[in-house]
Amino acid sequence: MSQAAAPAMRVYVACPFPAPVLDLFVQRFGAAHNGTGRVLDNDALIAAAQGMDALVITVTNRIDGGLAAALPASVKALCTYSVGTDHLDLDALRAKGIAVFSTPDVLNESCADTAMLLMLGAARRVIEGIGLIRQGTWTGWSPLQLIGHDVWGKRLGILGMGRIGRAIARRARGFGMQVHYHNRSRLAPDAEVGAHYHESLESLAGHSDFLCIACPANASTRGIVNAGILARLPAHAIVCNVARGDVIRDEDLVQALRSGAIAAAGLDVYAGEPDIHPAYRELPNVFGLPHIGSSTIDTRIAMGEILCSGLEAWSRGSRPANQLC
Ligand code: DGY
Repeated sequence: MSQAAAPAMRVYVACPFPAPVLDLFVQRFGAAHNGTGRVLDNDALIAAAQGMDALVITVTNRIDGGLAAALPASVKALCTYSVGTDHLDLDALRAKGIAVFSTPDVLNESCADTAMLLMLGAARRVIEGIGLIRQGTWTGWSPLQLIGHDVWGKRLGILGMGRIGRAIARRARGFGMQVHYHNRSRLAPDAEVGAHYHESLESLAGHSDFLCIACPANASTRGIVNAGILARLPAHAIVCNVARGDVIRDEDLVQALRSGAIAAAGLDVYAGEPDIHPAYRELPNVFGLPHIGSSTIDTRIAMGEILCSGLEAWSRGSRPANQLC
């Protein structure tokens, strides 16, 4: 039996998209879009949303209670082009009767690749190595040159064993790492993929050579990687973050990196992006990337696809798996 056509919906894409992603929304919904190449400020977003049924935004559009209230009454659906939702006041959107969709699952593997990249890049002092090549200051091979740390055979502590955390765990096992994790609740044994559960973050830190953050940012995780946790790590430890910057207390991490209390950090996300802590730009033991965890064309297209399919299913009266409220 052929599926009923979804009722026509007026969709506005507020964020800049790669052409194949924009095409999905234009072909499926005849979507209008923000052609400026920039993120719209709140006033421009409200103006563009007039008469629209659905908006497509991303993490750089913070929809707090005030902005949710100011959205035109026509808006009944909001798609965030992200798996993270810490930029959204979900309660306010729910109260206004706006259905919210996100992009779970489709970016797990590319984010987990990025976590491995951070671990390897920080452990093998890639920033300093690239500096020698780019600046022409390499004086030749030496047994003393850029001595880093092995990744293989080390203990990896994963904070947040959701879908991305588990994808990191699978890769880490391929690198011969012993995987430990802390999560708000213990996983079922078959989902643990051999990882050792710790009831507390303190215990996890005490058993980690690499601490990789993969949990969402919310009231119970903001600032939890603090001086007390960092002090439990060994001096050769490396902290990596593919989740959200505000899970880490920047001042505490910077102090640990400066003092040699830990060896290095690999960071893809930062509190207050793009205005990052200045030490992250300067410290040689910070391998920093500009929030590119899910930034592959394959994943970008998959993120667009899941939002389009979710919107279509919702408009036909179903509740798709990526609908949050
Ligand atoms: C996410 O999906 O939450 C990424 O961090 C940004 O797209």
